Amino acid sequence: MNIISSYSIKGGVGKTALAVNLAYVLRESGRRTLLIDLDPQGAAAFYFRMGSAKKLRMRDSDALADGLRSNIRESDFPGLDIIPSNLAYRNFDIVLDSMSKSRKRLRKVLDEFKPDYDVILLDCPPNITLLSENVFRASDLIVVPVIPTVLSQRTLDQLTLFFQNEELPVEILRPFFSMVQKRNRMHRDIMDELPLSNPHFLKTVIPFSADVEKMGLRRMPLLAYSSNCEAAMAYRALCNEILCQTAARP
Ligand SMILES: Nc1ncnc2c1ncn2[C@@H]1O[C@H](COP(=O)(O)OP(=O)(O)O)[C@@H](O)[C@H]1O
Ligand SMILES: [Mg+2]
Repeated sequence: MNIISSYSIKGGVGKTALAVNLAYVLRESGRRTLLIDLDPQGAAAFYFRMGSAKKLRMRDSDALADGLRSNIRESDFPGLDIIPSNLAYRNFDIVLDSMSKSRKRLRKVLDEFKPDYDVILLDCPPNITLLSENVFRASDLIVVPVIPTVLSQRTLDQLTLFFQNEELPVEILRPFFSMVQKRNRMHRDIMDELPLSNPHFLKTVIPFSADVEKMGLRRMPLLAYSSNCEAAMAYRALCNEILCQTAARP
């Protein structure tokens, strides 16, 4: 089983847009897929026309695993299950903090789902918190949307530095350029330079496109209702690039 996370310290960069389309491509490829929406804002589940999860008991990892399991819902796409988020997730850090081995709890909880799924996808909230540290230690691959701006570049540097300081495996980070506006000179310059210092940058670029924003109206992944627009083709290429990377991992 592979655990892939869509994560960035920054909000509004395209984490959820990636997570829902990647989930769609994974199940389309025949992989039994579980998408867990870890962001209390609940956008990923919203895109799959679901409400929020029932309140979870999070007192220890067994209770957390049971609670998550009881919230698994089948999506409209066979082979893809979703665990919606809940506002109670805002307390994840406090609950994790009270557990022993608090940085590795999520991995233990997710191991329980191993027999049932080929891939677990985590749509993460922004910020670096104890929950994020759990995500870092649970994930086999962390895909990081980066809008080609100075601030996004800065948060990618902060994340890389955090990994180095905590002796986490930097090589599991896979940044990609999100919401790219090719006419924007700064975007072009940053896209030329940033990958030079980051050998794991994914090659596929996601353009800024109103088609992606329409996911909020259609309430399904872009790839489920449009396969030929520029953004859809880019998402498909990006997902395939990510899949090649996971398949290549031991
Ligand atoms: N490639 C894109 N082009 C245009 N709008 C986008 C694109 N990707 C995401 N968006 C929009 O930007 C907003 C934030 O995207 P989202 O995926 O929710 O970011 P995050 O999960 O990082 O907060 C949403 O309204 C979404 O529809
Ligand atoms: Mg999000």
